[in-house]
Parts: sequence; structure tokens; C-alpha cells
Amino acid sequence: GAPLKSLAARADLLFGTAVNMDALAEDKTYRKITAREFNSLTAENVMKWETLQPERGVYDFSQGDALMRFAKQNGQQVRGHTLLWHNQLPAWLTEGVADGSITKDELRQILREHITTVAKHYKGKIYQWDVVNEVFEEDGSYRQSLWYQQLGPSYIADAFRWAKQADPHAKLYVNDYNVEGVNAKSTAYHNLVKDLRAQGIRVDGFGIQGHLSTQYGFPGDIPQNLQRFADLGVESSFTEVDVRGVMPMDEAKLNLQADYFRGMLDACLDQRKCTSFTIWGFADQYSWVPDVFAGEGSANIYDESYAPKPSYWAVRQELAEG
Ligand code: G3I
Repeated sequence: GAPLKSLAARADLLFGTAVNMDALAEDKTYRKITAREFNSLTAENVMKWETLQPERGVYDFSQGDALMRFAKQNGQQVRGHTLLWHNQLPAWLTEGVADGSITKDELRQILREHITTVAKHYKGKIYQWDVVNEVFEEDGSYRQSLWYQQLGPSYIADAFRWAKQADPHAKLYVNDYNVEGVNAKSTAYHNLVKDLRAQGIRVDGFGIQGHLSTQYGFPGDIPQNLQRFADLGVESSFTEVDVRGVMPMDEAKLNLQADYFRGMLDACLDQRKCTSFTIWGFADQYSWVPDVFAGEGSANIYDESYAPKPSYWAVRQELAEG
């Protein structure tokens, strides 16, 4: 049948995957499916700080550029992930902050320079940037990250200002997990977006990662959550969707997983301002899940031998229905 990206295009949706650059280089089947099924790509790791700025002031765009070339060859768009995060920071930065050799003023300059350099490097080629990633705790308070502890909450407005100056055409996003439904954390984002926009700072989108688990219930109020962001005038996207389960998976769990994929995709397709839906990899053998959640896995739509799972068929059907 038609590839998923063609069905998505008919539904006016960008349908993406995160890309593991090692797999793309080494695994032909992985490369073939990446090219064939998706019209949007996100770097799973290679546009993060530790990869892009491994030494202070020394940038390495080689892998990010390789992803851009692959996308261009295959007529795909690229989502940028991520200009600011508290994880996968280079050691020179975390150590310099810890031992006091990087002062607060310098840190702010470093942040400004990194965002400006990276966003300018990819200027005009990224349709959405995750400007800030995972800045709130579950209770809606600010995450006590290096950025927050050193710079206070104003680093967020700064990051959006600098990103806009460097690449005015990209849609600028906040992005987080556990914000699918209406809860304290998603409400913190709603308030943040409202406040920033009231200050005249451009924020264009709300990124919902969509890392769910069949162990926990499906958040039933995703449509209401998407709607309240649409009411603020911002778009939304699902940016890192996967649905893990406790291993071994059985038919019931695989079907439940398929329902979760379907539920998120359906909510996006039903919301005019939901513009893209990205899954966080498609092949179970490259998933981040088993490394982080012991005993869990099978989070993607193809199994280890690239056989489509019930979640693949659910996504396919949902896209076809539009
Ligand atoms: O590159 C090194 C390699 O040199 C080293 O030998 C190897 C040994 O552990 O590690 C390699 O780094 C790994 C890196 O992925 C690249 O493969 C890290 O250990 C590993 O922790 C890292 O995991 C990534 C994780 O973010 C880090 O927090 C996952 O691949 C990636 O899928 C995951 O993605 C995040 C999103 O960016 C933000 N939202 C949550 C999502 C899932 O955690």
C-alpha cells in the first residue's frame, strides 16, 4: 500500500520519526523505511549540545548535516531538537559550572552563542525548533536545572528571543513529556506560553512528547488540552511518541499499545492546529526504552525484525481516515 507519509500528506499532517544516525549508516532496512514512510525527521541525538559543541566554542555539525542531506534527498522536512535541555550537555559546560570557572554572566553568553550559532547554521531548513525542552517538574514548578539554578526563569524568554533572531521562519516550540492531558505540568506550559506572549515574546508551538506506557491509563483529555493551546493561538505537535510495555508483551498489551497510538494520532488529526506527529523511532531494536526502564520495551510500531505490529496498523488506519 501507500507509504504512511502519503496518507499523512493527504491528511495535511507531517508524520515523522526520530532518527538514530548510527542505524541510518549501518542498517539498510532502517534506512529504507526512514526514507519511505516519513515526511519529517528529527535527530534523536545529534542536534543536542554534547554533539554540536563538544568543546567550548568548537562546533561539530557533521552528523546533523548528514541528517539534513538525507532529508533533502528524500524530500523530507526536519524538526530541530533541541536548542536547550538539561541532559546531554558537554562535560566542559557542566564541570565549568560546577567548579565555578564558568560564571553566570558567561553561562548566559554561552547559551546565547550556542542558540544563535546552531539556529543560524540551520536557518531556513528547520520547520519547528524545540527551543526549550523539559523545563518543568511534574507539579508545574520550574525544573531545578543548571539553567534555572544559574540564570533564573528569564533564560526561557531569552532562549526564544535569540532563536527568533537567528531563524525567524522556524516555528518555535516548548516541548515536554507527561503533558498529553490536562494536568499541573501542562497547565504550567499553558501559563508560560500565555505569559511569554503577553510580554511580546514569540512562542509558536506546544510540543507534546507522547512517551506513554500501557501500564498507566490513557489520558482521556488530550483533545481538551490541545484545544486550550489552540485557544491561546499556538499550534501543537506530538514530537516523540512511543508506547512502552512491561516485557514480555502479549496480544492484549500489543492491542492496548495500538489503541494508545491511535488515540494520540486521532486527537492530533481532529485538532486543526496540531501540525505534526513524530514517533520516537520506529524499530524496537533501537529504542531508548529498555536502557531507561528496566523490564520494559516494545515501544515502537515495528518489532525487532521489522514486522509491523498492531500499532503500525492502527497508525496506518488512522492516517488513512484522516
Ligand atoms: O554516544 C555515546 C557513546 O559514545 C557511548 O559509548 C555510549 C555508552 O553508553 O553512549 C552513547 O551515548 C548515548 C546516547 O543516547 C547516544 O546513543 C547515551 O548513553 C544515552 O543515554 C543516550 O540516550 C538518549 C537519551 O535521550 C538521553 O537522555 C536516547 O538515545 C534518546 O532517545 C533520548 O531522547 C529523549 C529526548 O531527547 C527528550 N525527551 C525524552 C527522550 C527519551 O529519553
